[in-house]
Amino acid sequence: AEAAKLKKSSLSELLAKAASHYRAQLKQSPKAIDYLKRRGLTGRIAATFGLGYAPEGWRSLARCFPEYDDPDLETAGLIVQGQGEGQSDKRYDRFRDRIMFPIRNVGGDVIGFGGRVLDGGEPKYLNSPETPVFSKGTELYGLYEARTAIRQRGMALVVEGYMDVVALAQHGVGHAVATLGTACTAEQVGKLFRFTEQVVFSFDGDKAGRRAAARALQSTLPHLTERRSARFLFLPAEHDPDSYVREHGAAAFESVVEAAKPLSAHLLEVVSDGCRLDTPEGRARLLAQAKPLLELLPAGLLQRQIVGELARLARVEDHEVLGGAPAPAPRAT
Ligand code: UTP
Ligand code: MN
Ligand code: MN
Ligand code: MN
Ligand code: MN
Repeated sequence: AEAAKLKKSSLSELLAKAASHYRAQLKQSPKAIDYLKRRGLTGRIAATFGLGYAPEGWRSLARCFPEYDDPDLETAGLIVQGQGEGQSDKRYDRFRDRIMFPIRNVGGDVIGFGGRVLDGGEPKYLNSPETPVFSKGTELYGLYEARTAIRQRGMALVVEGYMDVVALAQHGVGHAVATLGTACTAEQVGKLFRFTEQVVFSFDGDKAGRRAAARALQSTLPHLTERRSARFLFLPAEHDPDSYVREHGAAAFESVVEAAKPLSAHLLEVVSDGCRLDTPEGRARLLAQAKPLLELLPAGLLQRQIVGELARLARVEDHEVLGGAPAPAPRAT
């Protein structure tokens, strides 16, 4: 265990050193600076988030790591080892010609990176692989930077993208975090509920956004109690939080957050999708679609409320919604 801890801190040191290399490179790259400016970001917000630039070229990191062959650089996800015939000795930088977003854990250690292309190249974002210090399903981008604002506002906002977090912060909306290019996990939601009792999810108006919302609902249900609230915000189809706040301003964004849909309303909408409630078939389908989600919700006041709503819609008794054993019939004597 001690050895593993040592290993992790040495990986974190390498990652911190790379982050400072990328920051220094940004200062020297007019095209990268220009890109961030075009996206409306100031030097100050770039510094707050430690944004950087990974230059073109295969071995830029050799300048800050003379020991380019150090296997830990590969373990840290910074360097890729070429595979296949004749490649075994070829090593190169994972991130090249990309805007670099350092990902920090809640203690502030750099644990990985997201890198965005400056043009239309693919993939748009390249992320660090899973490493001993970086697990995508556990970490949230921006949590370290947002943690104080989350506590002060009593709310965490979960968005999809790196750029959303940074652009919102630039506009004074400092309590946003992002999932890391994967579905929002129950572990991530649990982590947020340690900072606040109120979580608002904001998804892009595109197809990926709707899929992400379905996963976030599933990941939130196990953590809900009557003290906690989760709400869902769907922006107009052409927007994400970054484009919305830039076009309409922070006050307009705050008011759409204010109007976000409570989880219960979102859940009822999801489970009644495609159900005709004026037919027995439709009502049976509603119950079938609701059951797996309700089973994720801890027993308690909130579960009883939602069950009650479904029972009314489906025209059944509350206890039939979860399909448990019906109340025992009075015994004949
Ligand atoms: P989006 O496609 O919505 O990108 O993906 P974005 O954040 O709005 O990017 P900009 O505004 O064009 O810069 C949302 C998130 O999904 C992950 C990233 O975390 C991204 O921020 N993603 C997306 C990837 O990991 N890889 C990709 O190729 C694309
Ligand atoms: Mn999107
Ligand atoms: Mn965007
Ligand atoms: Mn987006
Ligand atoms: Mn608009």
